[in-house]
Amino acid sequence: MVDLIEAAVAARRSTILRVGVIGAGIMGADHANTLRRAVRGAEVTAIADVDLGRARAAADGARAYDDAFALVADPAVDAVVIASHDSAHAEQVVAAVKAGKAVLCEKPLAPTLAQGRQVLRDIGSTGEALLSVGFMRRFDPGYAALRQAVDDGTVGAPVLVHNISRGVSGAPNATSELSITGSSIHEFDVVPWLLRSPVVEVSWVAPRRSSQVHDGLQDPQLIHLRTADGVLSTCETFLNARYGYDIRCEVVGETGAISLTEPARVRLDAGQRHGIGYPADWRPRFADAYRIELQAWVDSVLAGAPTPLATGRDGVVASAAAEAVIASMHDGGRVTKVEAP
Ligand code: NAI
Repeated sequence: MVDLIEAAVAARRSTILRVGVIGAGIMGADHANTLRRAVRGAEVTAIADVDLGRARAAADGARAYDDAFALVADPAVDAVVIASHDSAHAEQVVAAVKAGKAVLCEKPLAPTLAQGRQVLRDIGSTGEALLSVGFMRRFDPGYAALRQAVDDGTVGAPVLVHNISRGVSGAPNATSELSITGSSIHEFDVVPWLLRSPVVEVSWVAPRRSSQVHDGLQDPQLIHLRTADGVLSTCETFLNARYGYDIRCEVVGETGAISLTEPARVRLDAGQRHGIGYPADWRPRFADAYRIELQAWVDSVLAGAPTPLATGRDGVVASAAAEAVIASMHDGGRVTKVEAP
């Protein structure tokens, strides 16, 4: 009888990944919901947040902890999603990987390049196989179609990529540097992924600061990335653009141009105008990307296959670009080489 129960438990384990989520804020709660409602083969068994009330509110039957390390040690947790504050990612990644658990860490892997490198040293090459980083744009159907078009030569060899990233309002504590490490870092991952060429050189420039923005935050900012293939990419980051959450990307090639369209489901005709709405933030815009990314992660962990997501090394590469952009910002926009990670 005991053997039968053990066999049943083992069989269940091989088809269901028991996931613990650290951080029950906007992203942690969203990932937990997506895992429960839209991802095959996953069960959310635990949620941790330093704010226990928040963990309980998001738990929906799962165990709630106020200590991330207790969640990591829970034998009912096979794998961990980290969606806590950026400053907590590094130590939580190291603890979970050292406990032998697969980890999907939200971007950034760590707030600085030095801390990101330290994570890779701490977990070693065996541990790296357990680590994925949540650069979900790689799973957005629009970005995936752009990359396929580049691969197919649909617009000829790329020469320019124009990126625009606008939000309604940044976090109250946002700074010019946090805007780079928290927001523009998505472009630092997706541009080299699209072009299959690493960022080698960056520069930073900015117009006058928006009057909607407090001191300490330059908003908007404009970043140039040069990849090893010679392509130049522009990245506008405008956290407080007010009108909506708006992500654009256009690849200009030698024989044409291809760009993302708004993934809208309806068009409104009223008041002698027609138009589509913008989401208020990233969750609706990238809902498909988060779902597809989580499914790919769960499938790969259950299969014991290499991660199809961004790796820890990709996380460090993006941080190297962010660090070079911040150095350029502090140095009057000087063109700055990106340190090899
Ligand atoms: P949030 O502030 O809404 O939630 C963070 C939660 O983590 C809070 O509930 C906080 O109490 C908890 N927390 C902080 N330190 C902790 C610790 N040491 N242990 C356990 N819990 C802790 O922030 P949000 O927007 O949910 O962001 C979470 C992470 O996701 C951040 O790293 C952020 O950069 C990233 N993010 C990624 C996005 C993407 O598109 N991939 C979009 C937005 C955020």
